[in-house]
Amino acid sequence: MIIEAIVTTLDAGGRCNPAPMGVVPLSGEGGRILLRPFKATHTFRNLKETGFAVVNMSWDGALYVYTALGDPELLVFPAEKIPGRVLRDHWGYWEVAVEELKEAGERAAVTCRIVKEVAREGIGAFNRAQAALIEGAILATRLHLHSPAFIKAELDRLATIVAKTGGQREKEAMDFLQDYVTRARKVGEKNAAD
Ligand SMILES: Cc1cc2nc3c(=O)[nH]c(=O)nc-3n(C[C@H](O)[C@H](O)[C@H](O)COP(=O)(O)O)c2cc1C
Repeated sequence: MIIEAIVTTLDAGGRCNPAPMGVVPLSGEGGRILLRPFKATHTFRNLKETGFAVVNMSWDGALYVYTALGDPELLVFPAEKIPGRVLRDHWGYWEVAVEELKEAGERAAVTCRIVKEVAREGIGAFNRAQAALIEGAILATRLHLHSPAFIKAELDRLATIVAKTGGQREKEAMDFLQDYVTRARKVGEKNAAD
């Protein structure tokens, strides 16, 4: 199973980088996870250079949009057992240390040991707009893999869900996402014409 989370890493200069990443909890003793960052990401570079991360659980779909497509400043506090930063608005988190990093292929395979786990209390519930934003954010980071027609149809469908079930924050994030895709497409068309 793959869960989605906001992974924060530090670069060599101590700057915090948040990015959504898929996380595979590994079975067996000792609490380990697998991350599969593309080697072009800051997350990969930071994992390689500094060897630590915080896996922040969040149900805030807007956060996935903003951290996947931009570089927002987020409210964070220091991790306890590793050099790292925890998102203030987490739903729980793992502080993790890199154990093994395999670089073959386009995507690395980074096995990490969980050194601290924090679970937040309180009721959690599904909201379709959050899920729609996460799907939209994934789509927007993989524009090169799909036709413009497919992307438009998918975004229209996801935007309808957000309009029906989201609040103001979710609607703003969907607008941001759609603007981002429109801009990226124009840049792509211009580059193809040049
Ligand atoms: C829900 C979600 C899951 C993602 N999972 C991954 C992943 O497992 N590996 C990856 O390299 N990128 C993944 N991405 C795309 C990265 O978040 C995106 O490329 C981001 O810009 C990388 O940021 P960074 O360069 O600051 O690390 C995912 C995006 C979303 C929205």
